[in-house]
Amino acid sequence: MRTILWHRLGVARVRDRIYVFEGSCPHAGRSLQGGAVTSQGIIECPWHGLLLSLDCQPCPVNAVPLAQLAFRVRNGIVAIDRGALRRNSR
Ligand code: FES
Repeated sequence: MRTILWHRLGVARVRDRIYVFEGSCPHAGRSLQGGAVTSQGIIECPWHGLLLSLDCQPCPVNAVPLAQLAFRVRNGIVAIDRGALRRNSR
């Protein structure tokens, strides 16, 4: 979990796909730091156990979809669009 421009974000690689996602739990807004990402792209919130999914097509095990942010990878660096951060904070 990282804080970038005052936004808590998570970055994970699952099955050769990279995800950039909201790093706060939709339940109570706490950090997802410490929540392990499974090989199915599921994160269990370390606070109250809510299951969150990075890839809901279809969403497995009653997991709540986690907000994703647009990004691109250039020269091995994940670059997040500042506009995506602003849109995500509304
Ligand atoms: S803060 Fe994540 S489940 Fe409550």
